[in-house]
Amino acid sequence: MRRFAILFCLVFTMACSTFAQIQFDAARKVWLITTPHSSYAMGVGPSGELQHLYWGGPLWRIEDVPAAQQRQDISSFDPHQMIENEEYPGWGGPRYYETALKITRADGDRDLVLHYADQHVEGDELEITLKDIHDDIQVTLHYRVYPETGIISRSSTIRNGTQQKITVNSAQSATWYMPRVGGYRLSYLSGRWAAESLLNLEPIQEGMKVLESRTGHTGHNLNPWFAIDPGNAAEEHGRVWFGALAWSGNWRITVEQTPYQQVRVTGGFNTFDFAYVLKPGESLETPAFYGGYSDHGFGEASRLLDRLELADIEPHGLKARPRPVLYNSWEATEFNVSEAGQKTLADKASKLGVEMFVVDDGWFGKRNNDHAGLGDWVVNPQKFPNGLNGLIQYVNGLGMDFGLWVEPEMVNPDSDLYRAHPDWVMNFPGRPRSELRNQLVLNFARDDVKDYIFQVLDKLATDYNIRYFKWDMNRTFAEPGWPEVAPDEQPELWVKYVRNLYDIMARLRAKHPKLEIESCSGGGGRVDLGILRYVDEFWTSDNTEAFDRLRIQEGFSQAYAPKLMSAWVTDVPNMNGRSTPLEFRFLVAMQGALGIGANLNKWTEEDAQLATKMIALYKRIRETVQFGNLYRLLSPRTNDTTANEYVSQDGKEAVLFAFRHSQEYSTLPPVIYFEGLNAHAVYRLESIDGKILNKESEVSGAYLMQSGLQLALKGDFDSTAVLLHRIQ
Ligand code: DGJ
Repeated sequence: MRRFAILFCLVFTMACSTFAQIQFDAARKVWLITTPHSSYAMGVGPSGELQHLYWGGPLWRIEDVPAAQQRQDISSFDPHQMIENEEYPGWGGPRYYETALKITRADGDRDLVLHYADQHVEGDELEITLKDIHDDIQVTLHYRVYPETGIISRSSTIRNGTQQKITVNSAQSATWYMPRVGGYRLSYLSGRWAAESLLNLEPIQEGMKVLESRTGHTGHNLNPWFAIDPGNAAEEHGRVWFGALAWSGNWRITVEQTPYQQVRVTGGFNTFDFAYVLKPGESLETPAFYGGYSDHGFGEASRLLDRLELADIEPHGLKARPRPVLYNSWEATEFNVSEAGQKTLADKASKLGVEMFVVDDGWFGKRNNDHAGLGDWVVNPQKFPNGLNGLIQYVNGLGMDFGLWVEPEMVNPDSDLYRAHPDWVMNFPGRPRSELRNQLVLNFARDDVKDYIFQVLDKLATDYNIRYFKWDMNRTFAEPGWPEVAPDEQPELWVKYVRNLYDIMARLRAKHPKLEIESCSGGGGRVDLGILRYVDEFWTSDNTEAFDRLRIQEGFSQAYAPKLMSAWVTDVPNMNGRSTPLEFRFLVAMQGALGIGANLNKWTEEDAQLATKMIALYKRIRETVQFGNLYRLLSPRTNDTTANEYVSQDGKEAVLFAFRHSQEYSTLPPVIYFEGLNAHAVYRLESIDGKILNKESEVSGAYLMQSGLQLALKGDFDSTAVLLHRIQ
């Protein structure tokens, strides 16, 4: 990387930063951003608009990139603006594709044409300022380059420099352009509660596909991630462009193919019910939209994102401790929690090797079911006669950290908080307040609500030795009214709510630096790179059924690192009425941050012994799983076997997980071809249960990758793991 940088510094003197990723050819007004993984180029066209010029594999010579050109109109129906790839188009003039910014001035003028004004490079960051051709409405485009992964984060700041109020009707973070080759395919994640992040692949055709959330949170239905390939990429080969939007509220990503075969992806705040008023001098910042390129398929695309998340987004970054093995009693006890009952479970959990004991819903107020108590964050004295400290000290005495469930954004109407402050929930006065799970949503956009909730959580974190909050959020928004502000500012709730949510988490973390947070929203309803700046992991799904989990986890792993994927072993029969062996359930959950959510009171001695063995095994491999590189070898979508391999950062350790779901017609066990090993190295194989057919215990990387490993997996829901230790 250094050599790469130095080469640039010698060849290009213009704007040569520490790593020299960002070059600017001032004469031709062309920018070239280069990292070892990718390059990205832009240029200013003859009339002043900023055009996208290139996104793909690394280039090193800025002269190779042609300057931006003005195209000819094809007809009066096909103006040149529709053919040029404007980097951040305003809605004005003849532009009919998805624009990045649309505004309405107080006097009704809605035309906005953005031209280049200025630029600034500092280190790995580039700022380009655009300005309307008529008014002082400015947009600063922010590009932050992450040289290790080639990923660029893009966002914009929209500033009203005029003397009149403007309303922003659409504010997008970025538009990304694929090279104009046509025939692309889109990958995206969709689902619903208990079936989140399922991977879809479909051809991109003319017209527009909208991925979005209108629910106020990130959502279970679609996730703000995309990947685009020319239709022929696979896990470990082919060209893949990918992106992820860092926003936990209403978001929108449009994937568009124009009549001129241009594929373009635009993302930012959802335009649905969006309005944001900028008074003179005010500005609005859009979320970061990360984009990257891989020429080694979807597998590398995921690994690049994983690296970015762990190194640059997650709060403790690469210095974070590995996720501890946790126990959570929710599926075992639901609301029926008590000090005595939790202590019994804690005793059992600690004997298995659990490191963090978490009390879920039901510990506070009159919370005996989901009809009452939300909002009243005081310990229920009947359930916990010694306060929470009675239990926490006991848990700590067993050598475990303590974690606590909270759902700070909500109230039950049957709560003291709601009775005291009915105006604190979002509402349109005089209209119904729709309840979902018997609860209403506090209006976090209000600063008084924000400050109150911060103080409640801060008190919990100060009074008790709490290492971790499971921050839940169990319903979607409805009637998002904010009667205390001017009518035209009320839709700002969508944005300000999320900002204040982030702010509470940031303040909590700053005051309690050891505190960890899990983002949960009825399972995986709030999984995105925006909240990841404040949390340590995600609750992947309320569906803990191990076979369903294989596909949920496959989808999740496209966009999010295994370390962030909280996964529990629970009891059977589970969802779908399905029963899988305990070892299968463990191995599925051990592919992320392992937790136990079973009713330990019902476990046999044999179950406990197996669990103790599996937890000990997990502790041996978790650095590799959580911080290593993931290779998805066989997909549950297309095979009767799923196989995933994790290789440690230093390449010295690897672990293979394999699951046979349903053998049919006595088919032979699959051959597993490894990836990411050193062909010239020799590895010692350690099978956890002897289910390897070719039993040589020392094998070269070349053999494992070229000839593969035969596993003796048979019947339904058979599973195994093989550890690889590099010995030469
Ligand atoms: C939804 C979460 O996803 C569950 O794990 C559990 O915490 C419940 N809420 C509690 O109400």
